[in-house]
Order: sequence, then structure tokens, then C-alpha cells
Amino acid sequence: MVPIGTIFYFNPFHFSLCFAHRILGTKSMNIVVLGPGAIGSLWAIHLKKAGHNVSLWGNKTQSTDSIQLEDKPPILFDNRNTQALSQADLVLVTVKVWQVEHAIKPIIQHLDSDCMLMFMHNGMGAVDRIYHLVEQHPVLLATTTHGAFRPSANRVNHTGLGQTQVGAFNDKAQQCEFIADVLNHAQPEVFWNQNIKQALWQKLVVNCAINPLTGIEQCQNGQLANQEYQTTIEKVVSECADVMNADGFKADKQTLLDTVRKVIVATGKNYSSMYQDVFYNRTTEIDFITGYLLERAKCLHIATPVNAELYQQIKAKELSEN
Ligand code: PAF
Repeated sequence: MVPIGTIFYFNPFHFSLCFAHRILGTKSMNIVVLGPGAIGSLWAIHLKKAGHNVSLWGNKTQSTDSIQLEDKPPILFDNRNTQALSQADLVLVTVKVWQVEHAIKPIIQHLDSDCMLMFMHNGMGAVDRIYHLVEQHPVLLATTTHGAFRPSANRVNHTGLGQTQVGAFNDKAQQCEFIADVLNHAQPEVFWNQNIKQALWQKLVVNCAINPLTGIEQCQNGQLANQEYQTTIEKVVSECADVMNADGFKADKQTLLDTVRKVIVATGKNYSSMYQDVFYNRTTEIDFITGYLLERAKCLHIATPVNAELYQQIKAKELSEN
């Protein structure tokens, strides 16, 4: 049965845009969540509850998989169904940033060229690296401040309400503004951002300030409010702002610092993703967070010694663990 209040959408690429607007409201979307980790699972559940045909493409090999949101009844999804890929209107890619290439390569051959690809992860630069594989598709970038945690393989906890911003990565995706409404209906609030790279940079600065330090110190985010970390955080943010400005993005040092401090307080009890990756001896996102910053800094001839030092310390941890 279709839940009351469900909004349905046609993929507008099959129609002229004007026509698509007139028929919005008549058909659910076919959506595949590629990489149903914590954030992917949360979206899968909410999109399915909103009436869309959602299937998963995860690591597990079985043809179905269930996800339970907190203590609610588990929801069953198809998993690794190639027919679902070939019918997909949207593939939501929520794998970790360093897994993007590995995850995309085997599935791309099954997708219709009108299928939208939306990448939602911490860090920057991954989509640039694989763009040659996906350029025929509308490609979208998204960033979210929702907090999610997977206490076990089939369970997800929504640990903090947030906002999601979505925007176009290529020209073909400029026509996809409607997708923000689709997502907003499933899990608000979602906004279309004409300058999504600006939003991604702002999130990158937050991640540059919080993630390496919590990974090195093995502490909760909230501990970074202590006096002993303030000089480092200020220098990290200041270097980031210099790189952002040189790269053509708006960056005010004090505003960015205020944002970082707000996130530290708001997520005080959280263990950052890098804390967790270091703790569990997993590959971290450092190459696409601080690593991306250092790459842009090198191209633009900007000095970033404090970020470089944090990068080296996390890389040393990764190497000693593998
Ligand atoms: O990577 C993370 O953990 C999150 O992006 C953030 C904002 C640092 C909160 O923990």
C-alpha cells in the first residue's frame, strides 16, 4: 500500500522538462543505494517509506537484506539486483570516499545513461577522479549533516537531525533540481544549492579541523573544545580559508572558525568517522579530506604546514595498522 502523502516522480530525462513538471505526481522513482552504510541505510529506509522502489547494492552477496531503524520493525530490500540497476532513475552513492571508484566501476555498465548519480560522502576530489566513467549521466553532489551510526550490520541509529544540500556536478544535472524535493519529502530538510562546491568546501574545513585531531587524540569531538587544541584548530582553519580563497571560493576565517566550534559543541558526544576508522584499523578518509586540501594548496602555491603535519600523523597511523 502506498503511504498517504507520497509524492511520485517521473525521471524528467525521459520527457521534456515542461512536460515533466506537469506529470510530476504520478510515479514513484526507482532508486538504488550503493553502499548502505550508516547514512546510506538511513536514506534507503526513508526513501522506501516515502513510497519509492528502493533497492540496495552492498557488499553482502545475498539477494535481499534487511535494515532496522532503531527499534522499529526491520525493512526488507532487494540487494545486488542488476535489473534494479538497469531500471534505476537514481543511484545514491554513499560508500566511503576512497571506495567510490571500486564501487562505481562494476555497476556503471548496467545503468541507463539518464540515470542520475548522486554522490554523498565526506571529502572532495573522488568524483573528479572517476568522472570519465560517469560523464554521460547527470552527476550530483550532496553533503549532509545528519548523524547516523550502525551499531550492527543490519541496524542503523539516527543520532542527529541534520540538513542535506544537493547540487549539480555537470551540465546534465542542472535540470535535476526536482530531486531536492524528492529527497526533502523523504528525509527533510533538503536544499538545492547552485554552488554545491562551496558547501562541500565548508564541510571539508569542518572535517579538516575535527577529523584528524580526533583520530590522533582518539577523543570525542567535544574534547576539541579544550584550550589545548585551540591554536591548532585556528591554524588549520586559517590555512583552509587561504586555499579556498585562492581556489575561487568564498571563505571568511572567523565565520569558518565559528562553524567549526559550533559543530564541535553540537556533535560533542560523537566519535568522528576518522576516530572510528583509526580505532578499528580501517583506511581513513584523510586522502580526500586533508589530502584534497594539500593537493589544492600545492597547485595554488599556498603554505599549509599545520594541515600537512596532521596529514602525516594520520598516514603514519594508517601505515602502522596495515
Ligand atoms: O566525519 C564526521 O564524523 C562528521 O563529518 C563530523 C561533522 C566531523 C561529525 O562527527
